[in-house]
Amino acid sequence: MRTIIEPFKIKMVESLRMTTREERERIIAEAGHNLFLVKSQDVLIDLLTDSGTGSMSDRQWASMILGDEAYAGSRSFFRFADKVREITGFKHVIPTHQGRAAEHILFGVVTKKGDVVPNNTHFDTTRANIENTGAVALDLVCPEGKNPQLVAPFKGNMDVEKLDQFLTNRGTTNVPLGMITITNNASGGQPVSMDNIRRTAQVYRKHGIPFFIDACRFAENAYFIKTREPGYADKSLLQIAQEAFSYADGCTMSAKKDALVNIGGFLAMNNDDWAHQSQAHLILTEGFVTYGGLAGRDLDAMAQGLTEVLEEDYMHYRIRSTQYLGEHLNAVGVPTYQPAGGHAIYVDAKAFLPHIPAHQYPGQALTVAMYIEGGIRAVEIGSVMFGKEDPATGTFIPAPNELVRLAIPRRVYTQSHIDYVIEVMEMVAANRDKVRGLRFKYRAPVLPHFTSTFEPV
Ligand code: F0G
Repeated sequence: MRTIIEPFKIKMVESLRMTTREERERIIAEAGHNLFLVKSQDVLIDLLTDSGTGSMSDRQWASMILGDEAYAGSRSFFRFADKVREITGFKHVIPTHQGRAAEHILFGVVTKKGDVVPNNTHFDTTRANIENTGAVALDLVCPEGKNPQLVAPFKGNMDVEKLDQFLTNRGTTNVPLGMITITNNASGGQPVSMDNIRRTAQVYRKHGIPFFIDACRFAENAYFIKTREPGYADKSLLQIAQEAFSYADGCTMSAKKDALVNIGGFLAMNNDDWAHQSQAHLILTEGFVTYGGLAGRDLDAMAQGLTEVLEEDYMHYRIRSTQYLGEHLNAVGVPTYQPAGGHAIYVDAKAFLPHIPAHQYPGQALTVAMYIEGGIRAVEIGSVMFGKEDPATGTFIPAPNELVRLAIPRRVYTQSHIDYVIEVMEMVAANRDKVRGLRFKYRAPVLPHFTSTFEPV
């Protein structure tokens, strides 16, 4: 069969509001040419993030009715913790309101000034939480991962040799833990192979360093292992996930991705001492150990979501539909990071808009053009987000890449929505010469992509 059908039918709908081009031109100008400042009701197809934007199933909603809102010892907590233990095998399961809360607690317990935490590529909040403790977040992605056009199966991998060299040369006294992120969101949403997880674990173990997985998209990663790595075709996604976690000592998780919920997360680990300290932090900042900043019903929704995300029909549709968008964008002349990631397609704005120099923010300009053309919202991952100024000379230092991420919310849009996105991108491509660069009108002092405003050059 050629058509990938959504393996669900729709029981409740949310209306989309159509706008005219004139309205969108006015809205984007009023929002300072920054899609973060546009109201969601003015967006037709929202591809800003896949985080917390998914649809819950009827079974998840049903399980929420069964939520036990007891402050301590809630039934919902045990359902949730049992499910997390079934998948990860970790002894202690600590619920948090989202992924960065788990990171904040973990690094608050484990890292201090002068420490280094290696990873394939740290996500921004992971990096920020590490740096907030005075430690250094080190990225060691494999060389293939740095080449956007190269097609390779596991471009999210850790550079294991480099990791080993780094730990051998530097010594391990100030490396309290090591990580790997599956899938590698900050490197094109690319997967990590089981072989790489195993070898990364061996290196950490050899140097006596505890190993944590950033597990936000662990189920998408398991599907890539099943379909791309020899020896895994006949294993279930649950078995693959279990093997991956068996190599690690703990994990952080944003349940807003692969637990198919709108809010939630957790921290899990085997180390008793770290777990007790983490629980003490949890009580200070999130809530008691059996709810951690969530309602009982949220814990039930996570438990059910963690079951559904490992269903093969769902994941086949999920990964194939992301690839479908990537393939069709390439066919209409839109260059994208290769191959398609699990949760998102990353458009190469530098190649797509070669007439706009980095200091006029081609990625940001493309997000504006996509909004005006068809009401699509995406996010720039380029020089607005990561560009810097040389502190001595004030000259502009661009980001390594100018990308625009089209992240796909889980179970939200149908194939015709995605076909519409492809048509809009085809129109943008046909008129790309007319897309103009931008300059800052107001530049926010930190995390400029969220609240800065721009004007056309
Ligand atoms: N780790 C990874 C790999 C992530 O992608 C995210 C969030 C987090 C940690 C933090 O989790 O948002 O629940 O606090 N990524 C979202 C995104 C925000 O749009 O990629 P959180």
